[in-house]
Amino acid sequence: MEATTYNYKVVRQFAIMTVVWGIVGMLVGVIIAAQLIWPDITYGIEWLSYGRLRPLHTNAVIFAFGGCALFATSLYVVQRTCQARLISDGLASFVFWGWQLIIVLAAVTLVLGITSGKEYAELEWPIDILIAVVWVAYAVLFFGTIVKRKTKYIYVANWFYGAFIITVALLHIVNSMAFPVSWLKSYSMYAGVQDAMVQWWYGHNAVGFFLTTAFLGMMYYFVPKQAGRPIYSYRLSIVHFWALNFIYMWAGPHHLLYTALPDWTQSLGMLFSLMLIAPSWGGMINGIMTLSGAWHKLRTDPILKFLITALSFYGMSTFEGPMMSVKTVNALSHYTEWTIGHVHSGALGWVAMISIGSLYYLIPRLFGREEMWSVRLINVHFWWSTIGVVLYIASMWIAGVAQGLMWRATNEDGTLTYSFAQSVNAMYPFYTIRLIGGAMFFAGMLLMAYNVWKTVAAGRVVNDARIPETVHA
Ligand code: HEM
Ligand code: HEM
Repeated sequence: MEATTYNYKVVRQFAIMTVVWGIVGMLVGVIIAAQLIWPDITYGIEWLSYGRLRPLHTNAVIFAFGGCALFATSLYVVQRTCQARLISDGLASFVFWGWQLIIVLAAVTLVLGITSGKEYAELEWPIDILIAVVWVAYAVLFFGTIVKRKTKYIYVANWFYGAFIITVALLHIVNSMAFPVSWLKSYSMYAGVQDAMVQWWYGHNAVGFFLTTAFLGMMYYFVPKQAGRPIYSYRLSIVHFWALNFIYMWAGPHHLLYTALPDWTQSLGMLFSLMLIAPSWGGMINGIMTLSGAWHKLRTDPILKFLITALSFYGMSTFEGPMMSVKTVNALSHYTEWTIGHVHSGALGWVAMISIGSLYYLIPRLFGREEMWSVRLINVHFWWSTIGVVLYIASMWIAGVAQGLMWRATNEDGTLTYSFAQSVNAMYPFYTIRLIGGAMFFAGMLLMAYNVWKTVAAGRVVNDARIPETVHA
């Protein structure tokens, strides 16, 4: 029986936890957004201070919410497109419970102020080792299933997921190299500018592979499925794959412009970032054009709306990113809210929306239903999140440009026109708009949780989805 059915259990577990961690991570996002307006909102409790909650937010949304969405979808897609059950149910359970343990350990240590101080790699060395072990288990599970596939070709989505799995292992292990001085404290193995370079090689490729390549894997499966059309161009998907992965690796120095990093390295990073527009837009066009001949579905299908809007935000943030990597533009944007606007047009607009769309496709299939309990609620969710993202990023763009211009404004005698405090003061209206946008996005997640709850309650746990006997190439 087992050999002829798919393992949906692990997919279901990860899918549900995506919604749970999405709510937790975004709630913390809303709290820190509020703290920037009312700094005393958490009554000076150190565990809830901005400095501790901010890394909790980034870790929760990227690795818990984004991570669970990627585990759920990759483990579903690899089985369906290879027409094979995962190689081991035990390994699948280990990956699920191992990842949940890492998330809980991360939440506890970050709130207690235990951190390595490296952005997006804050966790201390014992947790880092655990991450490496779970990740290798995930790699064995994923690639093992590809090896035992019944189909002749490896579907393109698996290429993207596969690149993400290999690269994240490499990035994590190299960047986390450290000398432990106690169970809870270690120091990076690298020093000075090398440390900065390794950190941003990691940081940028965490964006490139965790937040981009992997979600493109999601796009290559769920957009054609939901649209009921084949992918626009397989040839383009291959060019997209190799060009994106090759170019991303070199763009890290754009995070270190005007630093002690050698100037030529900075220029190289800028150049590769500019080149990144081509594969990024190639991928976006491939996704959006999959809808050609089926555009009318966008009017009525809120899941497609999520997926296609996500691709539009992907296109926007991958146009904006290369612009921000131009040195003269970065001289204005760096350290300002503009970066935060860019981050969230990618993170909320692209990552969160493509995940939400994919989950709305996936969840009914995992619980034996045709569709979600309420399609109308999906539509409401779509509008709340779209308006929420737009409010968030538009306010941050205006805030960022204003901030940058205020900092550089000088009087005729060369003195600064504005004090730093004046530039902080100018931010309040924009922080308030961002809070409203963020709260709307968060509220949308609560709607989703309710809809998922109702779908699960009205459905049944599917453990008997059969693998087709005949092999489709
Ligand atoms: C309700 C939704 C969200 C809200 C209200 C929110 C709010 C915030 C706030 C206030 C910050 C700190 C900004 C600063 O220090 O100036 C932040 C940082 C960040 N958030 Fe979010 N966020 C949300 C969702 C997300 C999601 C879904 C992701 C990723 C998938 C994400 C990724 C990040 C990252 C990477 C940073 C750090 C940016 C940097 O250091 O440049 N956020 N967020
Ligand atoms: C062609 C693609 C992209 C390029 C060339 C690019 C470029 C940049 C640049 C120049 C910065 C500002 C660095 C600084 O001044 O500190 C930045 C920051 C950032 N970008 Fe992008 N970006 C791209 C796409 C994306 C996407 C799709 C996402 C999210 C899904 C994203 C997430 C981030 C994050 C999280 C940061 C903040 C890093 C930090 O300082 O903590 N980027 N990006």
